Amino acid sequence: MIQYDASQRTITLNTHRTSYQMKIHSTGVLLHTYYGPRLRGGDLSRLICPEDRGFSPNPDEVGLDRTWSLDTQPQEYSSSGVGDFRLPSLEADLDDGSHTADFRYVRHTVEEGKYALEGLPAFYGEGVTAQTLTVELKDCCSGLTVELLYGVLEEYDLITRAVRVRNDGAAPVRLTRVASACLDFPVGEHDFITLGGAYAREREPVRAALSQGVHTAGSVRGSSSHQQNPFFVLCDKDTTEDAGRCWGMALVYSGNFLASMEHTQFHETRMTLGIHPFHFSWLLQPGETFTAPEAAMVFSAQGLGHMSRLFHRAIRLNLCRGPWKDQRRPILINNWEATLFHFDADKIYSIAKAASQVGVEMMVMDDGWFGERNDDFGGLGDWNVNEKKLPGGLAPLAERIQGLGMKFGIWVEPEMVNENSDLYRAHLDWAFQVPGRPVTRGRYQLVLDLTREEVKQYVLDNLRAMLRSAPISYVKWDMNRSLTDVWSAGLPSQRQGEVYHRFVLAVYEILEALHQEFPDLLIEGCSGGGGRFDCGMLYYTPQIWCSDNTDAMDRLRIQYGTSFCYPCASMGAHVSAVPNGLTHRSTPFHTRGVVAAAGTFGYELDLNELSQEELAQVREQIAAFRTDWELVMRGDYYRLSNPFRPEDSFCAWMHVSQDRSRALVGLVQTQRHANPVRPLLRLKGLDPERDYRIDGRIYGGDELMYAGLALPFLDECQALQYHIEAV
Ligand code: GLA
Repeated sequence: MIQYDASQRTITLNTHRTSYQMKIHSTGVLLHTYYGPRLRGGDLSRLICPEDRGFSPNPDEVGLDRTWSLDTQPQEYSSSGVGDFRLPSLEADLDDGSHTADFRYVRHTVEEGKYALEGLPAFYGEGVTAQTLTVELKDCCSGLTVELLYGVLEEYDLITRAVRVRNDGAAPVRLTRVASACLDFPVGEHDFITLGGAYAREREPVRAALSQGVHTAGSVRGSSSHQQNPFFVLCDKDTTEDAGRCWGMALVYSGNFLASMEHTQFHETRMTLGIHPFHFSWLLQPGETFTAPEAAMVFSAQGLGHMSRLFHRAIRLNLCRGPWKDQRRPILINNWEATLFHFDADKIYSIAKAASQVGVEMMVMDDGWFGERNDDFGGLGDWNVNEKKLPGGLAPLAERIQGLGMKFGIWVEPEMVNENSDLYRAHLDWAFQVPGRPVTRGRYQLVLDLTREEVKQYVLDNLRAMLRSAPISYVKWDMNRSLTDVWSAGLPSQRQGEVYHRFVLAVYEILEALHQEFPDLLIEGCSGGGGRFDCGMLYYTPQIWCSDNTDAMDRLRIQYGTSFCYPCASMGAHVSAVPNGLTHRSTPFHTRGVVAAAGTFGYELDLNELSQEELAQVREQIAAFRTDWELVMRGDYYRLSNPFRPEDSFCAWMHVSQDRSRALVGLVQTQRHANPVRPLLRLKGLDPERDYRIDGRIYGGDELMYAGLALPFLDECQALQYHIEAV
């Protein structure tokens, strides 16, 4: 897999279908020479032709050779201040006041298995063919050493990268930018795709042409955010869903991030991805190491759909952990949209009881069960049970729910505090606030400074106590505001630039402790819906609430965009009541079921308020999900249409079993006009040589994929499913 050619000084990382190559140049600069379809061999540095380029200066090592400049060399980890005027990978304030960073090869090692990162989430190699390459680079003068880590997960065509920066010098160094990955493309015109959006409109794919200059996507909100996702794609201009070259890159991180794509004077492209330099600095004392989070890359020569399927499999099986990662999750009911804060034990029990009668398997009690939490003005931080609502604590209610044959789950928002709380009154300095400045509120709440040991312990102790106090099978971990006023009383002034990152590390530390101590606990991530939907969280929480927007029509778009990187098994999706609270739209019950069944599936309403007819549909939906879950969770996912295309009248998708013997198509009519064009649906992922049964009729796989199915004329918002089985 990882091959070192000592005569050419090339290192090639081969996956099943891709190759990635670097070359140790005679100057020691680590050149990047190739990333694309798998090659048999060769030294691709021959593509880097020496040219005398005006205003591209030459390093001392090449003497008077004007044809060799860092400005025009593709590199694995770009330098700063020595003639490469493109995006730097690392920037630092050195002890003498200079900022130069310029790295040269020292050594490399290849090991079996995939590296892990201390305190940070990362893909792991168990169960697949995995190797690790570590390349050590050194800056001549500052004592800074950079370890570039490459993980190769062969089956998924996945290459991961991470960086460790060590201060081997005698003086402290302050890092101000540390990219996790830098990827250079020698030439070409590309498009890039980012996942933009907003609260309740998460992960809307945006495709644009890369023109000269720097284009960025990122978050400075302290979390990965609703507005931009730490995932992006570079692709050829003619790349489509099913054909063409694309390179996807995801950051395994949940805090501030910056993805930059630069198109240069010579039509080279450089992508960098890592922690956002906004308010970031990290003081490295002599001997100390800083680890930048992991970036994961996939190359596909078969379009965006194939790229997504590679990410899906790798995330599901080698990023998510714990017993739930590949198991059917309990079908749950959550009371939030039904009750908001206004409930007591009997109300929760009555929702659970009605749900138990139709086959729902878990009752999740949402926000409002603790402290004086009767609205969003107060209570956050006080994790003691509100006995007025739940007499005797959590255990009696959890046990009653268990008595119905259901599991019990609960909502928490551990990173936050309301000023109207006992916790805040006792510890005014535990919330982020810059001394002397007024606070900035978000949803009437402040953010706890989890970088302080005592605050982190408080949170962890309360979570542990809660989990031990009752039979709790599931936790919904929420985070309902962005970070501001980021300053910690626990750190000296020269370390304040570390707080954003230390906050993320503390969240990971708490989640890791829970993962170790409560191995069977299923945690669902959430941040005002899908505001922290990223590979970092998925390492701890195998599912994430996709969006507070449960309107089926809007969900089509949200789940479509999310699927660019993240698997269906990770998407929290529920059937909720109509008219929808956010869009005021009414969609048929069946449609809501079809859309929620493309995710983890559950309900977000009070079943006591449904008609007998609707309850019968709930029973059917649950029975269907019990049959179909494996296809949805473990199958390959195909996007059959794009719900953002204004000319499309329906949105369709498809789950296909690994052996291509079964498939499930979901389809929703998104618009209907008079006298419409006959809708045709071409399927994907089937075996052209086999025959398949749909609704009692037999079709060739070739026929279904190349000619398609004629669809009935559906009304707007109506849905249908096709169950497909090989005969
Ligand atoms: C966030 C979540 C919701 C719900 C509320 C409770 O908005 O996304 O699902 O839990 O908080 O306050």
